[in-house]
Amino acid sequence: MNWKFLVMSSVFAGTTVTLGRLNNRFLRNGLTCQNFLARAFVTHLPVSQNIVRRQRHSINTRLFSTTNSTSSTRTDADRLEKQKQKAAKAAAAKERRRKFIGLAKAVDRGQFATTYQPGGPTGDMFEAKSGLPPRKDDFIVLGIESSCDDTGAAVVRSDGVILGEALASQSHIHEEWGGVVPGLAKTAHEEALDRVIQTALDEAGTTLHDVDAIGVTVGPGLEICLRVGAQRACELAQEYNKPFVGIHHLEAHIMMARLENRELEWPFLSLLVSGGHCQILSCHGVGNYSILGGTLDDSLGECFDKTARLLGLPVGGGGGPAVEALAKEGDPTAIPLTIPLLKRKDCDFSYAGLKTNVRRAAEQLAMERGVESALELSRQDKANIAASFQNIAIVHLEQRLERAMTLVEKQDKAIRTLALVGGVAANQELRSRLNVLCEARGWTMVVPPPRLCTDQGAMAAWAAIERLKLGSSDDPSNQEVYARYPFSMA
Ligand SMILES: *[C@@H]1O[C@H](CO)[C@@H](O)[C@H](O)[C@H]1NC(C)=O
Ligand SMILES: *[C@@H]1O[C@H](CO)[C@@H](O)[C@H](O)[C@H]1NC(C)=O
Repeated sequence: MNWKFLVMSSVFAGTTVTLGRLNNRFLRNGLTCQNFLARAFVTHLPVSQNIVRRQRHSINTRLFSTTNSTSSTRTDADRLEKQKQKAAKAAAAKERRRKFIGLAKAVDRGQFATTYQPGGPTGDMFEAKSGLPPRKDDFIVLGIESSCDDTGAAVVRSDGVILGEALASQSHIHEEWGGVVPGLAKTAHEEALDRVIQTALDEAGTTLHDVDAIGVTVGPGLEICLRVGAQRACELAQEYNKPFVGIHHLEAHIMMARLENRELEWPFLSLLVSGGHCQILSCHGVGNYSILGGTLDDSLGECFDKTARLLGLPVGGGGGPAVEALAKEGDPTAIPLTIPLLKRKDCDFSYAGLKTNVRRAAEQLAMERGVESALELSRQDKANIAASFQNIAIVHLEQRLERAMTLVEKQDKAIRTLALVGGVAANQELRSRLNVLCEARGWTMVVPPPRLCTDQGAMAAWAAIERLKLGSSDDPSNQEVYARYPFSMA
């Protein structure tokens, strides 16, 4: 009797392997699972696996019953052992996830790196490694930012007034390539940096002799770009003998909420959405953040860029503004899209699925309209795609954010403010919808003006001011840059 099952099992196993190989080949050739064979594979796989599993189980049971009369105890022990293994596996996965989520995608995936911990493990060991500004109440700081594709510099006073600023955008360079090209970005930073610094100083009516400190972004970001700004800032700090602060780019984004609203006290909740990052953080103090949720794959900014490219919109300075503008003309319910991670009861994000979802929907629509690709769709069709995408992307944010808010409401009575920060926070639709969400829950929302959401020099200057006020500065003769620079997680 058993040989029949064995033959059946091996036939099924053989078919499964063959179909699996075929499927892989289809995928490799860019075909989708909708291919007939692949579909047959998908429908039959669970059935065949079940039968194989059942056979294996019955064989195991029979073996046990001949070697040990107390087969039921053995099965129980077996089950317990399996449960234990499963629990251990789940714990390992959870740990992996914890480490991974602490690191922002795009630059940080799966890598260990120097963590940002300016106050030491206890958070109160701030050191003035290169001194502090002389006049503590009213000092001015030069900030430099070159972590990605914009060269920014600004002079900011310690009470939060931006005295002068300058920004050299590289959008015209990267426009041609449909994204940021690190090598070109580095060259453009080198060419623009001194001019940008000088313009910011001139606008503030000051000179390098008269600024009280220098702050520069040292990570996370594109390493070769970070190095351009950091090297120059270190040279200047040493040459002019100024206190120096190495800035964490994401902390600087978060700090902009405190520049915008000087009453914003720690702790608060922060939603950081940008080209490389998508995180919900509890912010307890300078250098003290806990990450409640992060993206499992892409950031929202990337997703906006991909959609812009799909629709043939300009992507040079980031695809977000173009998609947002076009979405205003469209119907957000026109294209059915799936909300990501509906079944996951945590605060994490996933945008890779939505990205694919949008591309498929656009291809489908192009086929219906009888045109070659999404690029040739009518303006109205493109607007509908943009609006539908933006809507679902924001619904996903709202859902994860509400979950985080519920969590925080239970755990931390002090937190009732949301800081919306990062480049994507410049999106008007997102701002107004999250504002409604916050008001409905009795929360306050703080968001910097759009101009200060995207990367610029003032963020480095203001983040330096926050550190200097705590008596913290870094050593410019010994400053690294960090492509990956996760927050330290207690
Ligand atoms: C049967 O299993 C029990 C409990 O697991 C064990 O103590 C016993 O030695 C086994 N007997 C044989 C014959 O293997
Ligand atoms: C971070 O903030 C929490 C809550 O205020 C506090 O308990 C903890 O000690 C702080 N840790 C560090 C490293 O600053």
